[in-house]
Amino acid sequence: MAEIVGAYFTSHVPSIGGAIHRGLKQDPYWKPFFDGFPPVHEWLAKVKPDVAVVFSNDHGLNFFLDKMPTFAVGAAPEYANADEGWGLPLYKTFKGHPELSWHIIEGLVEEEFDPVTCQSMLVDHAISIPFELAYPDAEQWPIKLVPIGINTVQHPLPSAKRCLALGRSVHKALASWKGDERIVVIGTGGLSHQLDGERAGFMNAEYDRFCLDNLVSDPDALTKDSIHEIVRLAGTQGVEVLNWIAARGALGPGAREIHRNYHLPISNTAAATVLYEPA
Ligand code: DHB
Ligand code: FE
Repeated sequence: MAEIVGAYFTSHVPSIGGAIHRGLKQDPYWKPFFDGFPPVHEWLAKVKPDVAVVFSNDHGLNFFLDKMPTFAVGAAPEYANADEGWGLPLYKTFKGHPELSWHIIEGLVEEEFDPVTCQSMLVDHAISIPFELAYPDAEQWPIKLVPIGINTVQHPLPSAKRCLALGRSVHKALASWKGDERIVVIGTGGLSHQLDGERAGFMNAEYDRFCLDNLVSDPDALTKDSIHEIVRLAGTQGVEVLNWIAARGALGPGAREIHRNYHLPISNTAAATVLYEPA
């Protein structure tokens, strides 16, 4: 039987990739962020996942403002990284797990979600950066990928409650999967940040703490705010916390935090890295 070994959450700021590329992990600006990763490496070496179900948001690589799915599930045999204009190196191609993808899609549709099914999909920094952080020395990504995209970009966005329900339905599908994979759930993006408009540079450590303190044992607490309230509290891009909320749902009912690192700012973003195990 498949086992959900835990959940890994991290921010996905593109400049993290630039810092890695330029060898700046020990630079005083970057060190407090990168120092959050040795426990992630040790944990991954211990729990040895072989497939990742990743909740993230596309940033215009697959879906632009003309066609924007609320939820999209990848069901491709592989997922290539592509240039989004950040000048980052191209990262390794991911192997997919189409059978598990379709099992999740079937479970979601049975539970009255209506995801877009993507038999081809590219991977942007929201997935490549968390993987580059998790497996810095890998020649090939050691685990397969099932990407689940949530629209955090163009309003109307799905509510936090809907995203938690989505994650819980994914959990149900994972629990009924007959394979023997070791599955890690990943949530990427956030925490508070705003990249544009009058509040560009806005961060909110108090709201981030509220999210981090409650996500583990009372994720429903994060669903009380409307999307516009979350944007007010977390910033226009901080609403990427929806990915974390969905991933928390996919982990299952009980969780315990085994690692937390929080640092601001990394390129105008409050950056957090967290590990949970099922409890
Ligand atoms: C940036 C981009 C992102 O997608 C994000 O979530 C945070 C920061 C950036 O361009 O700096
Ligand atoms: Fe982002």
